[in-house]
This record gives sequence, C-alpha cells and structure tokens, in this order.
Amino acid sequence: MKHIQFAFNTSFTHLDTLILPINDEGEIISLENILPQQSTLNALSKSLSKSGDFSGNVGTTLLLIKPAGIEFQRVLLVGFGAKDKLTTKGYLTSIQAAADALDHCGAIHIVNAAIFAKPAAESIKWAVTQNAQIFQRSFYDYSHESRGSHSLKEPKVESMVFPADDYTAAAHQGQATALGMALTQELANMPSNFCTPTYLAETAIQLGQEFDFDIKILDRKEMIEMGMGSFMSVAQGGDTPPKMICLSYKGGESSQAPIALVGKGVTFDTGGISLKPGAGMDEMKYDMGGAATVLGVFKALGEIKPNINVVGVIPATENMPSGNAIKPGDVVTSLSGQTIEVLNTDAEGRLILCDALTYTQQTYKPSKIIDMATLTGACIIALGHHVSAIMGNNQPLVDALRTAGETTYDRFWQLPLGEEWDEQLKSNFADMANIGGRAGGSITAAQFLARFVKEVDWAHLDIAGTAWISGDKKGATGRPVPALVEYLLTEAKA
Ligand code: BES
Ligand code: MN
Ligand code: ZN
Repeated sequence: MKHIQFAFNTSFTHLDTLILPINDEGEIISLENILPQQSTLNALSKSLSKSGDFSGNVGTTLLLIKPAGIEFQRVLLVGFGAKDKLTTKGYLTSIQAAADALDHCGAIHIVNAAIFAKPAAESIKWAVTQNAQIFQRSFYDYSHESRGSHSLKEPKVESMVFPADDYTAAAHQGQATALGMALTQELANMPSNFCTPTYLAETAIQLGQEFDFDIKILDRKEMIEMGMGSFMSVAQGGDTPPKMICLSYKGGESSQAPIALVGKGVTFDTGGISLKPGAGMDEMKYDMGGAATVLGVFKALGEIKPNINVVGVIPATENMPSGNAIKPGDVVTSLSGQTIEVLNTDAEGRLILCDALTYTQQTYKPSKIIDMATLTGACIIALGHHVSAIMGNNQPLVDALRTAGETTYDRFWQLPLGEEWDEQLKSNFADMANIGGRAGGSITAAQFLARFVKEVDWAHLDIAGTAWISGDKKGATGRPVPALVEYLLTEAKA
C-alpha cells in the first residue's frame, strides 16, 4: 500500500488541497489566522452556510474547486457540528467523511487543518494519530487476485501537512496502525480457498523477513506428537494442513518476559458435524479474525519498533465435517492433560485456543497473555457490533486494554467471570464439556479458556461482533488492531 508522507509546518507552498474544519454556523474552527486568505475563506464558508449549501453538521463535506480569490486548487469544507458539542465519535465520523470525500479525487498535496477541530477532551497529538490512521487507511481496497476484473486505481495523494508543532511519532503510530489494519483486513476478506493456514504461515514468514521477527511453524505431525489432542481434533476433519504459527518480536531487554498475543485462526468454520445453517455461512471465512489481528499488530510493531518483547501464537485450521471429523460426545485430551467432552463441534475456537494457550505458557513464559477470537455468536447478542467483549483474570490488565480501546475508539466492554459460569462446563464423561448451554455463552467460552491459564495475567477479547461488518458494506474492519497497538506502545513506554 502506498504510504502518505506526513509533515508538520506552516508553509503552504506547493499544496493543492486544504481541509478546512467548519462548525454549524459556517465558521472556521479554532484556527488562529494561520492560513493564507483565511478571512476570505471564512467569509466564503459563512455565505455557504447562510445560503443553505453547507450545513456544517457532523459528517458533512463540501468540495470546492478553485474558489475565487483562494490560492488552493481545492478546499474541502468539513462539518463538525455545534460548538462544544462534538464527541469523539462525531469527530472521527467527520474525519472519515473527509477521507471519503478526497478518495480518488485529484488531491496530491494536502494541508489538513481539521486536527484543530478535535473534541475538547482530546489533544492535538491524539488528533494527529487519528487523522494519520484514517487517511492512510482510506487507501486500503481489497486487492487480492480472487477479486477478478475489478480494476484498482492507485490513490493520487502523496503528502499531508499538519499546520502544527511536530508530532511525527504520533503520525507514525497512526500510519503504522493503518498499515497493520490493512493487512488484517486483506487476510480476513480473502476467501478460505486462498487464505488457508498455510497462507497465514507464509504471511508470517514474509513479515519475519521484512522486519526480522523469529518465526516458527508447527505442522500436523509435530502437533499430534506434542499432544495437542484438542486442537488436532478440530483439524482432523479437514484435508487442509493445520499450522501453529509463532512470531517473536524482540524490541526490549532480553531478560524481559514477553507479552503474548494468541489469535483464533479458523480459516473456515462450517461448524463441523454440528453443521451450521447455510444462510450467511460465507461469513465464517472471517473466523480467522483473531489470527489476522495478531499479524496486523506485528506489522505495526515492525513499522514502529517499540521497546518491548511480544510473541504471537496462532492456531490455524479449518473446521470441516468429514468421515474423519470429531463427533459430538467424543472425548479428547488437551496438551495440558485435561480431558474435554466435545458436545458441539461448532464450539471449535476454544478447542484450538486451549492448546495454543498451554503451548504459549510452556514455550514463552509470558508476563501477560491476550487472546483474541471471533469466539461466540452470543457476544453479538450481548453487545452488538460496536464494542468487543473483554474478560480476564487481572483487573489492571483489563483496565489498561479498555483505556487503550477508549483512546483509539476501538472499544471493549467487560463481562464478568466466576465459578457460577464455570460450573456450566461440567461433564459426566471428561474433565469438562466444551459448551455450557445457551445462557451466558460468551462467559462460559471464556471460562473454558480460563481453565488453561496458569498463574499468568490474562485477558480474552471476543471480537465476534467487531472483526467484520455484514450487509452491503460487507468487509473486515481491522479491529482490534488500533487498541492493541496503543496498549503495547503504552506498555513499551511504561
Ligand atoms: N465462529 C463461531 C462464532 C461466531 C458465530 C462468530 C457467528 C461470529 C458470528 C464459533 O466457532 C461458534 O460457532 N460458536 C458457537 C458456540 C456454541 C456452539 C456454544 C456459537 O456461537 O453458536
Ligand atoms: Mn464454530
Ligand atoms: Zn468458529
């Protein structure tokens, strides 16, 4: 993906496009006469407000070409609504609208004054990160060959100047986050006949070469020998080879225990013998959204190179029905030694994650584990599509992730854990069942994972509702890459 050059200064020569923030009275917002012809611009936008041509409401834009008396080729008016009423959500909506309005127009060199319209509670630095992220990400377009004859136009934009103090690191964080999200989106959008466990492994190897990560890939034979009976019971139904994909980024002291990111990589979830209904089943190509998030975060880490150690572990497989597939009632032995009665083969995410969690703890001795998974339909029922669920055994870790989620507007909402929900996993025939009934389905799934977490700080992110959007804008979102990058950078500075 083409990279935008971000810069900070107040010289406006060679810039062809101005992004101008306007309130609902037609006034330029919070700009202390730093723009050329600012009073002419102010008079122009006020007259457009008066005439009803531009409301200045949140999310509205108006592109003016060669306005009289103005030296810019084009001026994009962007509405931010009523004074002092702007929310974080509203601000981001307007910036996104600005990026959409400039998508594939003639703009090449842009000055972006919309950072000054930020909500009162946020800093200019925050606004720079968000703008860099949103504009860089507007370059992402699903580009895989499987798309066929759709022709993709290369974006024209080359540079964006913020007329402010130097916040280069903030812009770089936003840009790296966008590049990570684009990788996450591309992998998730790719159909499962292309995006196989092997393809995810090759992507990790490529990232490893580009950014000097250590990469290790385990195959079916090795994992069977190691005793990953739970993960392998899911993989046994498919002919596509499963992989355990391990990435290691060392930016901190070698003595420092890493933070581990574990991502569910079910490249297609048919449900197995507990087959899913047909309607909308195509969306189960997105069931590797956790895996794609881990790879996207590693891409951002490679770009930013923060002072921290991070490992990524991705159990990747299809969940298929076949003559070899695991059947309801079958009992398997996990890598931890605990036995599991598989009452529903569609609750496969936890079956692959439990072995990945055990493997991660044994191999890397991490200080913290954060797992992310499109784990339960129940999560969508509980929280909808706007926030991911978070649960964990350590409140400071959960709080730190939630704070990072608020900062990036990639939010998490905490659900409880407790022995009452754990009891729902009781089995007459094994140490536990892999389902706990309909009630509290997201919590019992997390409770299952908790049984495989031994004395390490752990948080679980259920991203079933947030990893992709359905409907006519169907596509991966790149979440929760922003929150995780923000969290890791905050940890690196701590
Ligand atoms: N990948 C699904 C969860 C899912 C479903 C995510 C729909 C997003 C949209 C997961 O493997 C699954 O099938 N979970 C079951 C669990 C149940 C059998 C206990 C579910 O949610 O129905
Ligand atoms: Mn399933
Ligand atoms: Zn699944």
